[in-house]
Amino acid sequence: MCGIVGYIGRRDVAPLLLEGLQRLEYRGYDSAGLVITGPKAAGLKMVKAKGRVRDLEARVPKRFAGTTGIAHTRWATHGAPSDENAHPHLDPENRVAVVHNGIIDNAAELRAKLGADGVVFASETDTEVLTHLIARSEADTLEEKVRQTLKLIEGTYGIAVMHADFADRIVVARNGSPVVLGIGEKEMFVASDVAALVTHTRQVVTLDDGEMATLKADDFRTYTTEGSRTTATPTTVEWEAESYDMGGHDTYMHKEICEQPDAVDRVLRGRIDDRFSTVHLGGLNLDAREARSIRRVKILGCGTSYHAGLIGAGLIESLARIPADAEPASEFRYRNPVVDPDTLYVAVSQSGETYDVLAAVQELKRKGARVLGVVNVVGSAIAREADGGTYVHAGPEVCVVSTKCFTNTVVAFALLALHLGRIRDLSVSDGKRIIEGLRRLPAQISEILTMEDEIKKLAKEYADAKSMMFIGRVRGYPVALEASLKLKEISYIHAEAYPASELKHGPLALIEPALPTVAIVPDDDLLEKNRAALEEIKARSGRILAVAHQEQEKADHTIVVPKNEDELDAILMGIPLQLLAYHTALELGRDIDKPRNLAKSVTVE
Ligand code: F6R
Repeated sequence: MCGIVGYIGRRDVAPLLLEGLQRLEYRGYDSAGLVITGPKAAGLKMVKAKGRVRDLEARVPKRFAGTTGIAHTRWATHGAPSDENAHPHLDPENRVAVVHNGIIDNAAELRAKLGADGVVFASETDTEVLTHLIARSEADTLEEKVRQTLKLIEGTYGIAVMHADFADRIVVARNGSPVVLGIGEKEMFVASDVAALVTHTRQVVTLDDGEMATLKADDFRTYTTEGSRTTATPTTVEWEAESYDMGGHDTYMHKEICEQPDAVDRVLRGRIDDRFSTVHLGGLNLDAREARSIRRVKILGCGTSYHAGLIGAGLIESLARIPADAEPASEFRYRNPVVDPDTLYVAVSQSGETYDVLAAVQELKRKGARVLGVVNVVGSAIAREADGGTYVHAGPEVCVVSTKCFTNTVVAFALLALHLGRIRDLSVSDGKRIIEGLRRLPAQISEILTMEDEIKKLAKEYADAKSMMFIGRVRGYPVALEASLKLKEISYIHAEAYPASELKHGPLALIEPALPTVAIVPDDDLLEKNRAALEEIKARSGRILAVAHQEQEKADHTIVVPKNEDELDAILMGIPLQLLAYHTALELGRDIDKPRNLAKSVTVE
């Protein structure tokens, strides 16, 4: 959702900004724009376009020289996608330009006040109020003009500001929406996401909430919105620029599905302790005594991360014998939850920026809870806000729909569950059994990936369905939920997930030949119960595709996956269904990496 890129240095800025915007396309957007200036440019020059970055590029004039600029991809919140509402926004005299991620809550009130003072607005956006307020500030420096303006603002922002009278600098500020500085040699970058920086520099500084920065070509300084200097030591981004490329695949989703054996290998690497049949998770900041005193675990996340959390809760209950459950963070924060000091709260997020998860973490911390993060993006807001946690090391995930991050997050939960279990009552032999199971995962995932042609054929067979049902029981239910989400997000086929045990309590009424059911049928203590559900569906002439460890007689098709330990089977059973969703969407001609109406990072409510 919304992206910011900025550059100040000596290079021709427009191509750099366009390239940066392309790298942010994956986040989802509906319009784009850029503004530049430079020693030879008189004032600020701006181009904007509704649509894709390539539409913007087509509008950039041939002679468009400049060495400083800011650019933006917009995801409409206040006002429809249009040229006028695209960022940057300029004041009427074309002296101030602002790009903004986030939402200004008191925009309507500020617009009314400015309107009463005779300001005429050129857009319907909340962002434009920032431009007018900065332009009208009588402060002497750009930093002070921005600071005065931010004092009037309620809401969230990551902003970058340019001013024709202060053309040697870009001023940026952060409150709730990421801002990362990229430190180069006699050039500086800024972006809302490291993806836009890594081709140029891997030295970055991530601003904290309430922090601002001034970027000049050969230096930068950071300070609080109150004006006191802060120390900012650059860190090195772990992800290589190539990890953001398609690497010979037709889509990022396909690339990311295929990367899973390596990704799982990465999350396990260096963490297993064979001597004590446990794992080390360095960043938990939770000693053995504290781990023993946990009475309950509550996992919070959204969408796919919530589903990973559901599997995680099951793993924690079975391996560590601590009562655990998962809840959508978006619901949790609005129900005035009772925050219990003996509960360990775990926030799960691929991006580490999801607003609902971040807000839940902040609410929990305000009430004195201990919160761990299970996060993919290093240094992201949730990772920084949490008391400790673990990274899932999936590498950058560019496709809007999550695949490898889901798998790695579940594996990270298995590690956390094993760690807690071995501190509590999990035996050495069970610890060893789980470790061996974890080690088998990468090869078993590779084996599943070799079934792609078979799954592609199945996708052709089921792609004409108007609706699909996904069922699973206990450990299989979150797999069904996630598979159903995957299918609906990219194929736009309606899909529902139900616990297999609930069929009789309503959804069985839907079963008929036109409604196929995908059933998760592991070889575990619930096998016979799951088979009974297949019987019920077959008796109503329903078509069944089973994901199982052996051929299922009642199913029309069975995808047979390798067996692991009962506790870990869920990790493997979802993978063929990622491929099923992928090939179904391809069959229907969908835009796989950018499904309609969705954004990669949901940084607003
Ligand atoms: C679905 C998907 C979303 C995200 C959700 C949370 O494929 O990717 O449901 O899982 O928006 O995002 P993160 O994990 O970044 O907090």
